Amino acid sequence: MKIKKILITGGAGYIGSVLVSDLVQKGYFVTVIDNLKFEKNSLSHLLGFKNFKFIKADVRNKNILINELKGKDLIIPLAALVGAPLCKKFPKIAKEINYNNIKFILSKISNNQKIIYPNTNSGYGIGKKNSYCDEKSTLNPISLYGKTKVQAEKIILNHKNSIVFRLATVFGYSYRMRTDLLVNFLVREAVLKNKLEIFEPNFRRNYIHVKDISNAFLFSIKNFQKMKGNIYNLGLSNANLTKIELAKSIKKIIKNLKINIKKNKSDPDKRDYFVSNKKIERIGFRTKVSLNDGIEELYKVFKINNFNQNKNNY
Ligand SMILES: NC(=O)c1ccc[n+]([C@@H]2O[C@H](COP(=O)([O-])OP(=O)(O)OC[C@H]3O[C@@H](n4cnc5c(N)ncnc54)[C@H](O)[C@@H]3O)[C@@H](O)[C@H]2O)c1
Repeated sequence: MKIKKILITGGAGYIGSVLVSDLVQKGYFVTVIDNLKFEKNSLSHLLGFKNFKFIKADVRNKNILINELKGKDLIIPLAALVGAPLCKKFPKIAKEINYNNIKFILSKISNNQKIIYPNTNSGYGIGKKNSYCDEKSTLNPISLYGKTKVQAEKIILNHKNSIVFRLATVFGYSYRMRTDLLVNFLVREAVLKNKLEIFEPNFRRNYIHVKDISNAFLFSIKNFQKMKGNIYNLGLSNANLTKIELAKSIKKIIKNLKINIKKNKSDPDKRDYFVSNKKIERIGFRTKVSLNDGIEELYKVFKINNFNQNKNNY
């Protein structure tokens, strides 16, 4: 059956606001439930579209959720407490939203209803030198954030009509801007201070533009039958970079940038791995936005607005 009606929880967020905009413009009937914790206007540009419905509510409101799950072909649960620091600060809420809410959704949908779920690839932890993590590599999350996401991934995969993405660190401009994500954070620092302090410079990571996340969701909606029941890493295959290489990529655009290596500071985020994205590439998915293009975009964005007001106000 063709996917027409989609429910997205957390659709006003960093990934959601870009994805929802693309889906609405492509003619899908999209309903978003979001409590607008961070950005009030990230979906306002869509309110005039007849194929868009917005519900300002908490996803833990069971009556609203049960009602909105009815008749939807696809559910994309994005609502979450995102990131290790936020989950550490609010552990009870993190478990409720990141895990219990997913469990509840699964208990209320029929076998025919489809789900696409975004996990983080940070659970790959510390990878082996010179080898790449693929979808069969063990996830061993350290933070509560990683743990709740991995637990949710496990139960999602019990639902046969599901696809799981394991996302690299996302970068780029969104209607709800996040300045905590590594590329966004470093470009903002570079614009504001003209200086970057890099600790643990050889830690490796994989990156992907937020627009390519949206493109991958669109691709998986079109290729659902072929892709279902599987996990896919999602990142730029040519952007498996160490932190110092990332800083140097930023210096290519901000030429007089000073980069200092901080020796005695350690990164609380211990991830250090390269990721293989071959599985999704083998079935035809191609990313469109390079890391350098994303850095140029972010440079222009932060020159205009440094997003000082963007606090985690949970
Ligand atoms: N951005 C990344 O790098 C990344 C990487 C891997 C996975 N993910 C996953 O993608 C999803 C979206 O992440 P994001 O970066 O867009 O984060 P985000 O914080 O910008 O978006 C989350 C959205 O959920 C909403 N929300 C939170 N709690 C809610 C509640 N109780 N009821 C209703 N709405 C609620 C927030 O208002 C926000 O709009 C999350 O599930 C996250 O774990 C993100």
